[in-house]
Amino acid sequence: MSHVKLTARARLRGTVDIPGDKSISHRAVIFNAVAEGSARITNFLTGADCLSTIACVRALGVDVVQEGSEVHVRGVGLRGLREPADVLDCGNSGTTLRLLAGLLAGTSIFTVLTGDASLRSRPQQRIVAPMRALGAQIDGRQSGDRAPLAIRGSSLRGGSYQLPVASAQVKSALLLAALGGSGSLTLGGRIDSRDHTERMLSAMGIDLQIGPDQITLYPPTHPVLPYPLSLRVPGDPSSAAFWWVAAAIHPDAELTTIGVCLNPTRTGALDVLHAMGAEITITNQRSEGSEPVGDVTVRSSHLRGTVIGGTLIPRLIDEIPILAVAAACAEGTTVVRDAQELRAKETDRIATVSAGLTALGVEVEPTNDGMILTGLGGPALHGTALQSHHDHRLAMAWAVASLVASGETTIADPESAAVSYPGFWEILQHIHN
Ligand code: S3P
Repeated sequence: MSHVKLTARARLRGTVDIPGDKSISHRAVIFNAVAEGSARITNFLTGADCLSTIACVRALGVDVVQEGSEVHVRGVGLRGLREPADVLDCGNSGTTLRLLAGLLAGTSIFTVLTGDASLRSRPQQRIVAPMRALGAQIDGRQSGDRAPLAIRGSSLRGGSYQLPVASAQVKSALLLAALGGSGSLTLGGRIDSRDHTERMLSAMGIDLQIGPDQITLYPPTHPVLPYPLSLRVPGDPSSAAFWWVAAAIHPDAELTTIGVCLNPTRTGALDVLHAMGAEITITNQRSEGSEPVGDVTVRSSHLRGTVIGGTLIPRLIDEIPILAVAAACAEGTTVVRDAQELRAKETDRIATVSAGLTALGVEVEPTNDGMILTGLGGPALHGTALQSHHDHRLAMAWAVASLVASGETTIADPESAAVSYPGFWEILQHIHN
């Protein structure tokens, strides 16, 4: 087991170029793999999760050339995917496994998808049950609720499904399954998760009708996405959020994050920090491909406790560990609720975040669907030994906490940060002077 030792910093200053968005990077490779023609993707996230996607897509016979953050994909259409010689390893990545499961269910090849111990412990019935209802032949451990998942591709029928949880992975898996199907698919219920799939499939020529309460996909006549999508991937707001909170909780800080995706389905953390009293300035707003982008500057702030729940949750689900660090340094109580989904992430983040904050000297009560935190009224955390549990977002949240903690903070297995943010530790070294 490896460890990193960290101590507080007197001053934080700097400008950080935010690496490509993880969700958009996965989608850019998977969607272009089944498009008609070639695409060039720049600012692709070279995190381990997105590299798992590239490896799986290559194993399906697609030509993917990666040089650093530039990736070229030569699309083959759904029927051009080749049956892989071995099991596809999705590593730690739920997005790889669930989106590929959707795509592969509607092909004519046999595939098996698996991943690391964390991924094999996460629920899959959420995609398996609705896909079976469309005619998919898919099975796995625990009656299909756990990977490895075995998929015998077949022609799926259309239909409709009410999403019970706001999950972009489930929504995307079903839309991808419908691509090769014989009829339209209508999704209702909790469709209010990140909408990159809808934006990108529309830009690639798929007939998608998107209303406030439902989405309908009409499969193309030929099972191929008509236009490849070349793009610069905007910066990941889930990565930028670590620097936003670092600046907000630190007594002498100003940090600017450049080129952050400001898609409204992803900006819940900015809304919460704003409501907590954070000093935030957004400049240089522009459009990159199908996404709004801007630069975000955050300065030292006096934060107040808040309530994080309801429809905000899908807009900041991955940022809850780092928002909990902000809440720990705020004045007053913060309540996180309606966030049961945290229990199905890389770790049970209600349990792991609560345990870490308790060790840092914060009063936290974990609840079924969130936590109740009593803020310390300022950056008064106690440095201690913390576990990342191999969860990238925990490793980075604890690193930010260490910037304002007394004494020494040690974090176990810090290298997991590379799952979504390969340059994180180097930047942490460079933002103080
Ligand atoms: C993602 C969706 C979210 C998020 C994950 C990435 C995506 O998961 O937590 O990091 O790219 O679709 P859920 O769909 O399970 O909410």
